[in-house]
Amino acid sequence: MEAPRGWLVISVLAISLASSVTQDVCRAPDGINGSAGIPGRPGRPGLKGERGEPGAPAIQTGIRGLKGDQGDPGPPGNPGRMGYPGPSGPMGPPGLPGLKGTKGSPGNIKDQPRPAFSAVRPNPLTRDNVVIFGEVITNQENVYQNNTGRFRCSVPGYYYFTFQVVSKWDICLSIRSSRRGQIQPLGFCDFNSKGFLQVVSGGTVLHLQQGDQVWIEKDASKGRIYHGPEADSIFSGFLIFPSA
Ligand SMILES: *[C@@H]1O[C@H](CO)[C@@H](O)[C@H](O)[C@H]1NC(C)=O
Ligand SMILES: *[C@@H]1O[C@H](CO)[C@@H](O)[C@H](O)[C@H]1NC(C)=O
Repeated sequence: MEAPRGWLVISVLAISLASSVTQDVCRAPDGINGSAGIPGRPGRPGLKGERGEPGAPAIQTGIRGLKGDQGDPGPPGNPGRMGYPGPSGPMGPPGLPGLKGTKGSPGNIKDQPRPAFSAVRPNPLTRDNVVIFGEVITNQENVYQNNTGRFRCSVPGYYYFTFQVVSKWDICLSIRSSRRGQIQPLGFCDFNSKGFLQVVSGGTVLHLQQGDQVWIEKDASKGRIYHGPEADSIFSGFLIFPSA
């Protein structure tokens, strides 16, 4: 008896359910919304956010503090650029003499200057008692100046000078040399009482430097020289050998 009654209740419910699904006619209006519930508990902390942009520098406001202690010296810097070269220093002392060189080949005499001159005096001509032998016979290297009567040394060395002068009177002549500014006379005299043509002569070897001069000078009172067609007077000089 129990079982058939149960089946009846279920079947009635099933019929009423089926009718409410298929037919929406008998639906009740919605109620008013309930009031809001109380706030829930705080949620769990969220994930850490991304790092923000650096902030703007703060405005300095405080009073300047005391100066700190001196720091340690820094590492040495790079070498600077090279400077300008300085002025050249004073000359050093002379070095020791070198070894003697090998013997050279023999020189050629033709390469050496060979000063030599001869000049005659057909006409009397003197200037400040210097006898001027104006007519040049030989003048190698142009060492004799026929306008002044002077030989001028251009090659240092040993020279031979000679003169032969014709006169009918007492005569004194000298070979004069100006060596390094010092004048040295070498006098030669001849005395003539008979008035014949007579030769007074002299000669010497002189060691001369460049620029030295040699000439013939007559005595101021005993210096009359013959001039005419019968004889000439002559002054000559030449290099014997050059000095080292
Ligand atoms: C009640 O709540 C629902 C859903 O939040 C909403 O759509 C509806 O308009 C509310 N009704 C009233 C009368 O406030
Ligand atoms: C010097 O020589 C030149 C040329 O040979 C000659 O013309 C001149 O007159 C001479 N000078 C003297 C003073 O004799």
